[in-house]
Amino acid sequence: MLDIGFAKSALPKSGALVLLLEEGEPLAGNLLSAVDEATGGAVLRALTAAEFKGRAGSNCVILAPGAGLSRVIAIGIGKPDSLTQRGAEEAGGNVVPLLARETHAAIAAGGVSAELAAAVAMGAALRAYRFDRYRTKEKAEDKPRLSKLAILAAQPVKAREAWAPLKATVEGVFLSRDLVSEPANILTPAEMADRCVALEKLGLKVEVLGPKEMTKLGFGALMGVAMGSANEPRMVVMHWNGVSGGKKPAKSAAPPIAFIGKGVTFDTGGISIKPAAGMEDMKWDMAGAGAVVGLMATLAGRKAKVDAVGLVGLVENMPSGTAQRPGDVVTSYSGQTIEVLNTDAEGRLVLADVIHYCQEQFNPRFMIDLATLTGAIIVALGQEYAGLFSNDDALAAQIASVAEETGEKTWRMPLADAYDRGLKSDIADMKNIAGRYGGAITAAQFIQRFVQGGKPWVHLDIAGMAWSSKDTATTPKGATAFGVRLLDRLVSAHYENS
Ligand code: BES
Ligand code: MN
Ligand code: ZN
Repeated sequence: MLDIGFAKSALPKSGALVLLLEEGEPLAGNLLSAVDEATGGAVLRALTAAEFKGRAGSNCVILAPGAGLSRVIAIGIGKPDSLTQRGAEEAGGNVVPLLARETHAAIAAGGVSAELAAAVAMGAALRAYRFDRYRTKEKAEDKPRLSKLAILAAQPVKAREAWAPLKATVEGVFLSRDLVSEPANILTPAEMADRCVALEKLGLKVEVLGPKEMTKLGFGALMGVAMGSANEPRMVVMHWNGVSGGKKPAKSAAPPIAFIGKGVTFDTGGISIKPAAGMEDMKWDMAGAGAVVGLMATLAGRKAKVDAVGLVGLVENMPSGTAQRPGDVVTSYSGQTIEVLNTDAEGRLVLADVIHYCQEQFNPRFMIDLATLTGAIIVALGQEYAGLFSNDDALAAQIASVAEETGEKTWRMPLADAYDRGLKSDIADMKNIAGRYGGAITAAQFIQRFVQGGKPWVHLDIAGMAWSSKDTATTPKGATAFGVRLLDRLVSAHYENS
């Protein structure tokens, strides 16, 4: 991660200086007149020549302006006092590619609140992520050089305090992005479980179940998916006891909130095999689980005052002589039987057993599952919104509002009996696919069959959101860690200290 520090507003003597400038006549912003004076008017001359107006999202780079600075970068933050937390993150993020050739830089954030200054830091940190573990020959001059970033704030102490929990969130996001970026030959279910166990250093309690335990419990749906692969499945249960402490919660303790992730470390489709073109994308079919792991690390990292459990079902979906066949009937952990008509509709099979286990073990306050579940949700919503399905309007509304704040957007989709009817099987309690239409909805209906007694539940279909083919303000292209920030904010806004 970028080395980020906070200091009082003062002109730096070297490196790059970033100015956050508000729209208006004249342009206003912390350190603007100071740097303009120090450079003999070069900064305002350049901004005028570039017709820089301070519109949100605009920027102007001034090279070698004088006063020892290598560059001054103006970033527009829009109308006075219009900057939001998310806008501040985007401003911080948009600066990063402009600083690739600098080793150190300072962002003048003395004109905004300590919270917004910390948000600028977060945006910059998030955008500076890189997954370069497997690049062994990249020349130093081709790597981004930026390593030190100073945020110049009116109240640096307060801004540093506001940054502490955000830093834990960035670390959770990076963990999630690392997991999702790893290729499937490295990140097998067992390897991913090991990386979860390593999080005990943060104070999480981590349990791992292997194929023997899951078979004994009767996880017929999950084990059916796993049986084609030479890589054994795992289920990982992570506990964060931020309220009840390290002690085993008393019987009377409030039940935890629960997060559940689809962790298909590679999805070939199984015997219902996928086409070759683009199949490599299916290394990120564990992004739901990756988000849950990143979220749990975040909650632990910032010592969130909440009791939460995170469960991930980790399997590889492969075709082989031991793989399940189309037409097989499996008995899920809930006892319900499933006719597996398409082995590529495997995520719902994995979730079915993990969701049932979650309720049996924890009777949680609510369950939120995340899954790269269907191509159909990408057809419906593209790569802008995750699909949100829920049996609980209040929980759905809470998520929709934090989605706006974090920029991890969700769109509510319907659930209805008419869709559920499509899952009727001629031979078992249900089949794992329905007709051609509304595929994301029928997938959600399938999962809902494993939610008991109207327990508040949200399903997030993140197939369109887990991986980005282009850079955005706070996410370089690649693994996004979608869901970590969304659910971290859900917890901090609604489920702590209560
Ligand atoms: N992992 C895929 C869904 C997916 C597709 C995620 C593209 C990300 C990008 C899922 O397991 C799958 O194969 N779903 C099938 C379901 C179908 C067989 C009913 C699909 O969407 O085609
Ligand atoms: Mn599949
Ligand atoms: Zn899948």
